[in-house]
Amino acid sequence: MASLYDRADIYDLGYTDSMRNAIREHWRLALRETEIRDVLDVSIGSGALTLPMAELGYCLTGSDLSRSMLEKCRKNAKDQGTEIELFESDFRKVHENLAGKAFDMVMSTGNSLPYVENEQIFTALASMDQLVKPGGYIYLDSRNWDRILKTRQRFYFYRPIILDDGVRMDRFQVWDYNPDGSMTFNLVFTFEKDGSFAGREIFEEHYHPTPRNIFIDALTALDYEIRAVMNHPAQCDKPVDEFDWYCILAKKKNA
Ligand SMILES: C[S@@+](CC[C@H](N)C(=O)[O-])C[C@H]1O[C@@H](n2cnc3c(N)ncnc32)[C@H](O)[C@@H]1O
Repeated sequence: MASLYDRADIYDLGYTDSMRNAIREHWRLALRETEIRDVLDVSIGSGALTLPMAELGYCLTGSDLSRSMLEKCRKNAKDQGTEIELFESDFRKVHENLAGKAFDMVMSTGNSLPYVENEQIFTALASMDQLVKPGGYIYLDSRNWDRILKTRQRFYFYRPIILDDGVRMDRFQVWDYNPDGSMTFNLVFTFEKDGSFAGREIFEEHYHPTPRNIFIDALTALDYEIRAVMNHPAQCDKPVDEFDWYCILAKKKNA
């Protein structure tokens, strides 16, 4: 079964102008009490969550495992007139690619860390940490896996989107709970124009549900202070434990 990340064109269809505005507002709120300028996103994908930061004045660098997502990110950045350095890397050894460089904030966006097993989360965060300046930050966002494991929800629906050419796109996901504790997300996209079927795409993604304490414990062990656990997007005012996504902002101690 194909990975969605080989079809960055389809991935990006979910990111409309209103989503982009919401993402920009998220960053404004989430980072409002920080003095961050240079950021590295180690799972930047096509840049959907990261490129809106350029409009707020952040200086962006990005890496990802997927060459096709990076190519799309390069194009998206060019289209919006943003300069960005991009390189291919596994986030578990991202520091090996940037020896001697350091950023105000190193982050992993888009619920990407749970692609690796819980035991490897520390390795990934430790590699990211090597690229954080003293007093800088690690940021990550994640699905609320604690809630998912509690409710064992099977279906996840998105609002329909009317694309520029008048095509209506519907998306839903079917989540399989595998016996080994991992999860398979079956992603279904359907397209309809003028009431007629216009296409269907199906992808499969494999995750390792990551309870929040795995992130918190790893960051604490790396000598970070947890500054905030917020909803993602931060403007959503539901209690964090009840919402679908959250993010963590952690500050590296100076010494
Ligand atoms: C859901 S996408 C998020 C992309 C982007 N951050 C966004 O939010 O739109 C997950 C991304 O994680 C990347 N990824 C998965 N495993 C990775 C790894 N071990 N190292 C680096 N990137 C990885 C995938 O290639 C994909 O681009």
